[in-house]
Amino acid sequence: MREENLLAGAPLPGEAGVDAGLRPRRMRDFIGQAALKGRLEILIQAAQARDEPIDHVLFSGPPGLGKTSLAGILAGEMEVTLRVTSGPALERPGDLAAVLTNLEPGDVLFVDEIHRLSRPVEEVLYPAMEDFALDIVVGKGPAARSIRLDLPRFTLVGATTRVGRVAPPLRDRFGYVARLDYYQSGDLAAIVKRSSSILDVVIDAEGAEVIARRSRGTPRVANRLLRRVRDFATVRGDGTVDATVADEALGVFEVDRRGLDKVDRFILEAVIHKFGGGPVGLSTLAIAVGEDPETVEDAYEPFLLMEGLLQRTPRGRMATTNAYTHLGVEPPPPPARPQGSLLDGA
Ligand SMILES: Nc1ncnc2c1ncn2[C@@H]1O[C@H](COP(=O)(O)OP(=O)(O)OP(=O)(O)O)[C@@H](O)[C@H]1O
Ligand SMILES: [Mg+2]
Repeated sequence: MREENLLAGAPLPGEAGVDAGLRPRRMRDFIGQAALKGRLEILIQAAQARDEPIDHVLFSGPPGLGKTSLAGILAGEMEVTLRVTSGPALERPGDLAAVLTNLEPGDVLFVDEIHRLSRPVEEVLYPAMEDFALDIVVGKGPAARSIRLDLPRFTLVGATTRVGRVAPPLRDRFGYVARLDYYQSGDLAAIVKRSSSILDVVIDAEGAEVIARRSRGTPRVANRLLRRVRDFATVRGDGTVDATVADEALGVFEVDRRGLDKVDRFILEAVIHKFGGGPVGLSTLAIAVGEDPETVEDAYEPFLLMEGLLQRTPRGRMATTNAYTHLGVEPPPPPARPQGSLLDGA
């Protein structure tokens, strides 16, 4: 299912290379997120003025919104080297120690999926972030002692799709925690334009807007849809993209008017048809749509919540009236008011 799903923001197999080609490298190429960019620019300029590395930064938000891109941009603006690793790749404390001892002064160390660091690895990170020091134990048993190694001053940039899973002591050691939000369609249209010029696609403003509006607020999705629209335009037309071509192409790839893909619709349909509109628990819902709960929660649900199609209640997920309308299903009648309620005002 994952392979043929065009939309949720997570990268598809083999997409990383294309992503890299379209990735903004400098702040001026990074479109949208104006407030966040403004704050990062202050951090950058202050660090430059003091000739110091930037304070540690944590980026959170749904897949495909630009967390990895921003890590690269911070390194690019500071003219330092970006070193990339991830929570799952750092299995043992020694793995992290090796990365840390290889840093040059000022380097940006990017740890993707930082919520997946193991506790012992995290504990190596604390003194490294706070004191630029590495505590290592030499020897065994009663002869064991801890020695402290100095590390160069560096900037840790963490990224996570679930900030709630980052241990509070780790989160507290970041000087700035930034949340990325879904993009406005105007910004997405600008991203589509920029990517089109990199990919040599001829597209007009209306064509870019059609793609933008159906991109789930997500730049990675916008770029992905642009590539599918380009394919369609090459095969069915003369390669140029306008609103009609974009619209037809997205219809062929089952992206609907609101930018919902098959899995999004599957989730809403399951809540409505299999669970009577809800409430239904996350894991039950995930099983019903054949995805794992983490994927539903990180990649699909945030967009459905933002669009007002799904609601989270203490007892589970519920479909909203909007969801019924969007799928063309008759919504259930509103619940009858209890008799003799104080609010009846009789
Ligand atoms: N603000 C932006 N301006 C232009 N392009 C962007 C922007 N944000 C993201 N992109 C594009 O979207 C792609 C995905 O962005 P990126 O890999 O940085 O997302 P991410 O948040 O790290 O995702 P994940 O959570 O899956 O790691 C990039 O390759 C880039 O082409
Ligand atoms: Mg990333």
